[in-house]
Amino acid sequence: MQKKRIEIEVKVLSFSELSEEKKVLIEKAKEASFAAYAPYSKFSVGVAVLLENGIVVVGNNQENVAYPSGLCAERTALFAANANYPNVAPKALAIAAQTGGKFLENPISPCGSCRQVILEAEKRFGKEIVMLLFGEKNIYEVTSVRSLLPLAFDEI
Ligand code: THU
Repeated sequence: MQKKRIEIEVKVLSFSELSEEKKVLIEKAKEASFAAYAPYSKFSVGVAVLLENGIVVVGNNQENVAYPSGLCAERTALFAANANYPNVAPKALAIAAQTGGKFLENPISPCGSCRQVILEAEKRFGKEIVMLLFGEKNIYEVTSVRSLLPLAFDEI
C-alpha cells in the first residue's frame, strides 16, 4: 500500500494586510450580503467576483420554501458573472457572511457544490481564482479553489 499526503496552503491575514483591491472586494461581498434572501436560515452570504476587466459582479444566497430550490451566494454570483461576461475570466472571489446582525468571526468556506462550480470557472478560462474568505478575526486567502477541493472531479 502507498499513502499519498496532500498539502494545501492557506494564508491567514488581517484586513490591514490586504491590498486595496482585495479590501474593496471584501467590502463589496459584505455589502452584497445585506441583499441576501435568507428568511429560512437567517444566514446571509455575500460574494463579490472580480473579473479580469475590472468589473465586479456580486451575488448572495437566494432561499426557497422548497429548500433545494434555493442557491448559495457563490453560485448566484459566478453564474451571473458568466451569464453577463461569458468571455471574461474571474480573477478573484470574496465571501462574507452575517447572521443575527453580525459578520462571522471566522472565515466562511464555500460548500462542496460551490467549490465544484468555482473549479469549473477556473477550468473554463484556464485561470486560477484567488479566494478571500472573510472573518472578522482573520481572513483566509487561497490562490485557487483546488486548495479547498483536493482530488477534485475534473478529468472528463
Ligand atoms: N450558503 C451560502 O450561500 N454560501 C456558503 O458558502 C454557505 C451557505 C447559504 C445557503 C443557505 O441559504 C444558507 O447559507 C444557510 O446554509
